[in-house]
Formats: sequence, C-alpha cells, structure tokens
Amino acid sequence: MKGGAGQRIDSLSGEIDRLLLASFMAPDAGFLSGEELSAAADVSRTTIWKRIELLREHGFVFESVPSRGYRLVTVPDFLHPAAIAAGMTTRRLGGTMVTFSETGSTNAVAARLGEEGGAEGTVVLAESQSQGKGRLGRIWSSPPGANLYCSILLRPPIPPTSAPQLTFVSAVAVVRAIKLCTGLSPIIKWPNDILINGAKVAGLLNEMTAETDRVATVVLGIGVNLNMVREQFPAELRHPASSLFLESGVRVDRVAFTRTLLTALDDLYDRYLAGGYPEIRDEWLAECGVIGKLVGVSDGVLQERMGVARGIDEGGALLLELSDGSIQRVYSGDVRLV
Ligand code: BTN
Repeated sequence: MKGGAGQRIDSLSGEIDRLLLASFMAPDAGFLSGEELSAAADVSRTTIWKRIELLREHGFVFESVPSRGYRLVTVPDFLHPAAIAAGMTTRRLGGTMVTFSETGSTNAVAARLGEEGGAEGTVVLAESQSQGKGRLGRIWSSPPGANLYCSILLRPPIPPTSAPQLTFVSAVAVVRAIKLCTGLSPIIKWPNDILINGAKVAGLLNEMTAETDRVATVVLGIGVNLNMVREQFPAELRHPASSLFLESGVRVDRVAFTRTLLTALDDLYDRYLAGGYPEIRDEWLAECGVIGKLVGVSDGVLQERMGVARGIDEGGALLLELSDGSIQRVYSGDVRLV
C-alpha cells in the first residue's frame, strides 16, 4: 500500500466516502460525476478530486471517464472508517473514527485525542503499530494488514475504582465478536486475555485518566490477531499465541469483524452505563475459562500463588481460594491454568 507512514484516512470527508461506497455496493453500481458528488457532499469539486487521489494512494481503484465521472471498482483490504460504518447502528461508538496506515500506538493516539477534548466513542484504528503496547510494559506485535489494532475513547461517569470493570466489558465484546464472526469458542483468561485452545488470540489494555473521585477518560485498547500466520509471530513469545485464521483455517473479513466488535461493545457499554457492573459480571463469568479451576498466579515479584479462582470483586480483582480455604484478592499478574 502506498501513502506516507502515519497518514490517516479519517471520517472528516465521510460523506464523499459513503456516497462512493454506497454506489460500489449497489447491485447496479454506476458512475458518479464530480458534480453529483460535490452537490451531495456539499464540498468543492477540488475536494472531491483530492479525496479520490488519497483513496487511490491507499489502494482504492477507480474507473474514471471524463463525461461520466468516477466508479469505484476495488476496495482494498483496509480498515476504512466509511466501510466499517456502513450499516453499523451503534449509539455511542464510532461517531468519529480514524484509521492510520501506521502509528506508534492507537492507545496513545486515543489518549491524546482525549486530552484535546475528543468525543466519547471516538475510535482509533491502525493498519500497523510501531510501538504497540501490551500489559506490564510488554510490546504488542503489530504487523501491517493482518490484525485489528483498535482503541476507543470513553468518558464514563464512574469513580476511578470502577474503571477496571470496563476491561470486563471489552473482554465480553471481543468474545461475542469472535463467536459471531468465526464460530470459534474463545475463553477469557483473567484479567485481559482471550484464548482459543490455550493460545492467546486477543489482548486488552485499558488506560485511564482521572480526577480525585471521577474518571475523566478511559481508553479501551483492543488487539485481536485475525489473519496473522505463524511466521509473523515474534520468536520469543512468553506464552502460546495464535490467530483466528490459524484456529479456523478461514480468513477473517477485517472490516466486518471490526463492525461486529464495535456493535457488541456499544451494546455492552450501554447496558453497563444503565445497569452497572451486575449487567456485565454474569456474562463475563460465563465466558471466563478459569473460574472454578486450579490456577497459579504470578506477579513477577512474589512466588507463584496457587489456588482455585472463585470469582471477581467490584474492583476487578480475582478472588483466589487458597488451600486453607481463605480468599485472597489478586489485583494484577499472570494466571496459569494448572
Ligand atoms: C496485552 O494482552 O498485553 C494487551 C495488548 C493490547 C494491544 C492493543 S492493540 C491496540 C491498542 N494499542 C496498543 O498500543 N495496545 C492496544
């Protein structure tokens, strides 16, 4: 794909893209003249021309005939906001959606947009990340064109102590999207991992800014290995990892997956805001693969603690039943099924 690193294709010119995509998807797809486009989108002919040139640089192929206008003939495998938004009926998410060809970290971009007053529900996507962030300062491998790297800016009216609950909201949304798009059966591994057949296919990294008693912003960072193949995984992985393609043998439509994920997240976030933690907790517990199981928990400092995972508390801590029957709260760390 051409186009400078970090160049973004966003929804600022969304109306033009929507018109082009609508005619592309229509069964009798025809030409749209520059005049028609400029009248419908209420922008100049020069703006139309520049937009089409930018789309061309990103792999969109147009047929153009001087007397008839433009006809979109090929849409690339690119997480284009207008393609994702086509037919999407979210209430809170995706009013603003931006996609970068490459960026450092979508979480960092979303956090910056949050500082600048960005709207709740802003979605930041990237085709690749040069500094993808994982939990505990780890790196999230982010090769181009294969996966989903997505961050969502939220402004929930909750106290900072409740912010970890949003990790459960995003975990349930990822599980729902994987089930709907692939028929696979993922499980959640507390706190932030989604596994299939014991291998990690998705990770969550939520970051918060807050005042004393109120959350200002939460960035939900979601990385899903969609079409990654074996050779694209880093050699020195700490835990087994996989992709939905490797697990199912079928390539995932990245645009459709993103739309499904945002729709699921929108629904769950809405329910969370209306009904609080109980709305989400039961669904999370049902999808969590470690509850009732013997696990080892390590935080990289203390010796691994063994116990049976019994549930989660209001703050998102894992309730671990030790061999003497006492319950210990685990606030962070890596869980291993024994
Ligand atoms: C983990 O399991 O360690 C969390 C991984 C989170 C990765 C995603 S990819 C999109 C977003 N941007 C980042 O830099 N990280 C998150």
